[in-house]
Amino acid sequence: MEKSSLPLPNEAPYYAGAKPARRSRKAAWALVPLAVTAYLFGPSIFRSVAPVSVGGTDLDPWASKSYCAQPDAIFPSEGDDALKKQYEYISSADFWNATVKRISGAVQVKSESFDDLGEIGKDPRWDVFYNFHKYLEATFPLLHEKLKVEKVNTHGLLYTWQGTDEKLKPTLLMAHQDTVPVPPETISAWTYPPWSGAYDGKHVWGRGASDCKNQLIAVMETVELLLEAKFNPKRTIVLSFGMDEECSGRQGAGHLAKFLYNRYGQDGLAVIVDEGSGFEEAWGTLFAKPGTGEKGYTDVHITVRMPGGHSSVPSDHTSIGVVSELITLIEAHQYRTHLEEINPYYTQLHCGAENSPDFPKTLKKLLAKRASGHEAHDSSAINTCKAKPDRLALEAAKQGKDIQYLMQTSQAVDVIIGGIKVNALPERVTVTVNHRINVGETPQIVWDRLTDLAGAVAKKHGLALHAFDGKEEPSSINLAASATTLLVAPVTPADGDPFAIIAGTTRALYGKEVIVAPGIMTGNTDTRYYWNLTKHIFRYGPGYDPEDDKGLAGVHTINEKVSIRNHVNAVRWFTLFVRNMDEVEI
Ligand SMILES: *[C@@H]1O[C@H](CO)[C@@H](O)[C@H](O)[C@H]1NC(C)=O
Ligand SMILES: *[C@@H]1O[C@H](CO)[C@@H](O)[C@H](O)[C@H]1NC(C)=O
Ligand SMILES: [Zn+2]
Repeated sequence: MEKSSLPLPNEAPYYAGAKPARRSRKAAWALVPLAVTAYLFGPSIFRSVAPVSVGGTDLDPWASKSYCAQPDAIFPSEGDDALKKQYEYISSADFWNATVKRISGAVQVKSESFDDLGEIGKDPRWDVFYNFHKYLEATFPLLHEKLKVEKVNTHGLLYTWQGTDEKLKPTLLMAHQDTVPVPPETISAWTYPPWSGAYDGKHVWGRGASDCKNQLIAVMETVELLLEAKFNPKRTIVLSFGMDEECSGRQGAGHLAKFLYNRYGQDGLAVIVDEGSGFEEAWGTLFAKPGTGEKGYTDVHITVRMPGGHSSVPSDHTSIGVVSELITLIEAHQYRTHLEEINPYYTQLHCGAENSPDFPKTLKKLLAKRASGHEAHDSSAINTCKAKPDRLALEAAKQGKDIQYLMQTSQAVDVIIGGIKVNALPERVTVTVNHRINVGETPQIVWDRLTDLAGAVAKKHGLALHAFDGKEEPSSINLAASATTLLVAPVTPADGDPFAIIAGTTRALYGKEVIVAPGIMTGNTDTRYYWNLTKHIFRYGPGYDPEDDKGLAGVHTINEKVSIRNHVNAVRWFTLFVRNMDEVEI
């Protein structure tokens, strides 16, 4: 589809021909079981027309079942004049100009977070968040007057808009206040200075503009506008903003999640929307990809200790040589590419097969085989030599490394420290290997494999091995896992509610040309601390600008910027979403 053929969202006001959320939703989801029933039990003529030849085999799993059912657009009920006006106002030039100011202002309040931050209250670098709160207070007066404001662990921000129906679980909207730092030596490479918040007619530029002060401001604008329109929610709306997402989130989200858990309990929230993936064109189709999964994470520190001494009488292998041998061995053993059916990318492939004109034929054939059970995936032997190659995953991986690593544990040797003097043998060398763990695997699989490889090298060189036992001794290889280790996130269900509300709201705003497919994140967000609060976590940037270049441009690097059209659409999406959530009983 041509980008320009996408209807600009402001061409259709939400209440034109709108149906209340509940009704349209039922209609969409009711069709699926009906179609399946008809296929299984209907007259044989129904069945004989269904399967078509896919690449030479008579397999067409999509004839009987959709793996990527798209709900109809979901609009909230019409509401009163104030709500109608409020929604129209979001598309006005007044709002555009006002929002430029607000985002620009937010970018101008520096709020970097650093990996080596000390304690809150002692390390003065935390104090920037006082300034950021002051800015938010001044910018969103009504929200600060009407909502309960709580500060968790000094700088974590929690806002609660109490709904009238205690039985409905809250909607939680998240973002983070902090940004990655700007390395001073890169400042001169920015087109506009990183804290200028410069506006060029389309974008606001600066650190944090799209990761993710835009999302934080969009959420607050949504609430402020709904308050102005005297919206009276049945379902409680909670906003939760951490301040160290870019360096593990322990002080912010870590504390906020515990606080919320004490208040709402296990599965106490209906849904969470945090920053995450957005829109992407693939195979000739525009997809929205709310992240329903996140890969796992573990850093492994490898330390090789060997006797020191003078360089003039070395052993054949120094600790640097030994560690090099181990690194070579690690890189010679890449993890297996394999796609579990629970992996959101599996559903994404089905979304492509069902909807995209340019979906590759070979891939479609392999996908059909898998879906029909003709080529069951062998997940029992995930990383052993005995495992059968996953032909579907290997074919899909041909699209590029970024796709491959949605289906494979990655390993990257990123840090090496050792050797200080040219005439002294290195006594201690440390290497850190970063891993992002594939859906269906665990950190333990990574640790076991490194234990095997390091064991072989240790044996060859007569060294002791200490694998994840917290011990060290002279002449040894030691393995230790980082405290940042994280399991693969539980995958959010992508059928039924609330996924259907997320998808239906997206299609209400952007039209039914947009296919909503579950996404998988290779990075981690603050939601890593929130798993117990709901099974329905979405990492989603709901703003889209058909004329913008890649949405992620500049994130974590120079020239970060956000398209204002993208941002305005995000505010419209959050407004529709909050109201849609208010009209369903989940
Ligand atoms: C919005 O701002 C631009 C300048 O950036 C100005 O030309 C325009 O008149 C403003 N529009 C409104 C409605 O205030
Ligand atoms: C969820 O709860 C379990 C059991 O209380 C706990 O062990 C686990 O750490 C919690 N997970 C998160 C992400 O908080
Ligand atoms: Zn972020």
